[in-house]
Amino acid sequence: MTATEQLARDLEAARARTLLLTDHDEPELLRQHTPLLSPLVWDLAHVAQQEDLWLLRRGDARRPGLLPPAVEALYDAFAQPRAVRARLPLLPPVEARAYGREVRARVLERLERLGRDDDGDPFDVAMVVSHEQQHDETMLQALAVRTGPPLLGAGTPLPPGRPGVAGTSVPVPGGPFVLGVDAADEPFSLDNERPAHVVDLPAFRIGRVPVTNAEYAAFVADGGYDTPRWWSGRGWAHRQEAGLQRPQYWSPDGTVRTRFGVLEEIPGDEPVQHVTFFEAEAYAAWAGARLPTEAEWEKAAAWDPAAGRRRRWPWGDPEPTPALANLDGSALRPAPVGAYPAGASAYGAEQLVGDVWEWTSSGFTPWPGFTPMLYADYSAPFFGGDYRVLRGGAWSVASSILRPSFRNWDHPVRRQVFSGFRLAWDA
Ligand SMILES: [Fe+2]
Repeated sequence: MTATEQLARDLEAARARTLLLTDHDEPELLRQHTPLLSPLVWDLAHVAQQEDLWLLRRGDARRPGLLPPAVEALYDAFAQPRAVRARLPLLPPVEARAYGREVRARVLERLERLGRDDDGDPFDVAMVVSHEQQHDETMLQALAVRTGPPLLGAGTPLPPGRPGVAGTSVPVPGGPFVLGVDAADEPFSLDNERPAHVVDLPAFRIGRVPVTNAEYAAFVADGGYDTPRWWSGRGWAHRQEAGLQRPQYWSPDGTVRTRFGVLEEIPGDEPVQHVTFFEAEAYAAWAGARLPTEAEWEKAAAWDPAAGRRRRWPWGDPEPTPALANLDGSALRPAPVGAYPAGASAYGAEQLVGDVWEWTSSGFTPWPGFTPMLYADYSAPFFGGDYRVLRGGAWSVASSILRPSFRNWDHPVRRQVFSGFRLAWDA
């Protein structure tokens, strides 16, 4: 398969997922479940609008798109905050889908000519794939918040976990490694992942697997939410103001949870999910540990000390499979810890990619030598803001857009994200 054919497939896979997640009746698509997330009908047209802008107009918003300017403006993520999107005169679902089909037909036609009589850049196509897949993930977040009978079923089966791995850690010796990637190695890496640069880290230990529901429940049972000393000043203020008492979707007695409308027992051996950065930080303090920095996380995930180079994935260079990681969204849940021994990194840490996004202690800053990509507002406006970086991608992330260098960021108070964490310790 040529690179262009692969990109066409990735575009189609993203659209198939978008259509699957929006295959609901009109009232359902118009619902806004939380001010933090858009009604699904907004995402449906927004992904097409961005594809129109970046691939048909190369980012030049002054050039006419397929929508009238006043309509197109409704889908500008910077101009229209999420909280107001349900009140906008949005395209009805049938029109949004038709718009998406029209943009896509033109894009595929241009893709055919790429490298011959079309001067488009394959990177921009990959960027648009990543954009649509990221919106598919936020649509899953909205469907998780949604109340009412389940729309998505229970999810596909996952491999069993292994006993004895929860709560264990692996050493990562001190020394330099390469943080970030270059376009030469990862042509579709996004701007904030570049460039590759050497970072020297002191020795540390890192959790072999993410913190589980059972471990987190012990923190709750030990009065973790009532003990200010485990929390940072801001964390405690938020814990009080938001009335946090347990992870989102857990029942007050901590025995059952709601997952995409299904009420079920909380599996003790699954990574805890839907916690804020502040909760992760408090748990770590209670456990006598801390959260890893982004650099520590990436070294544990991608560095191969014997070979003195990065691996493309924690386990090596082969692409992800269902035996190596829980990705691509069909499971609708994280896998139990220990489910992927074959997916271990060179240092023996497991489940670094897939399962849950992992909070790190790092703010979102550019790597030295950062250069913005065509979509210049993807990363740069967020550098230095009130964010913490999350790493590794959750079960909800498409493997086609993920890399161990992939950086996600969110406000430390957010937990509609499929977010968990693993611990770290100074060695
Ligand atoms: Fe977007």
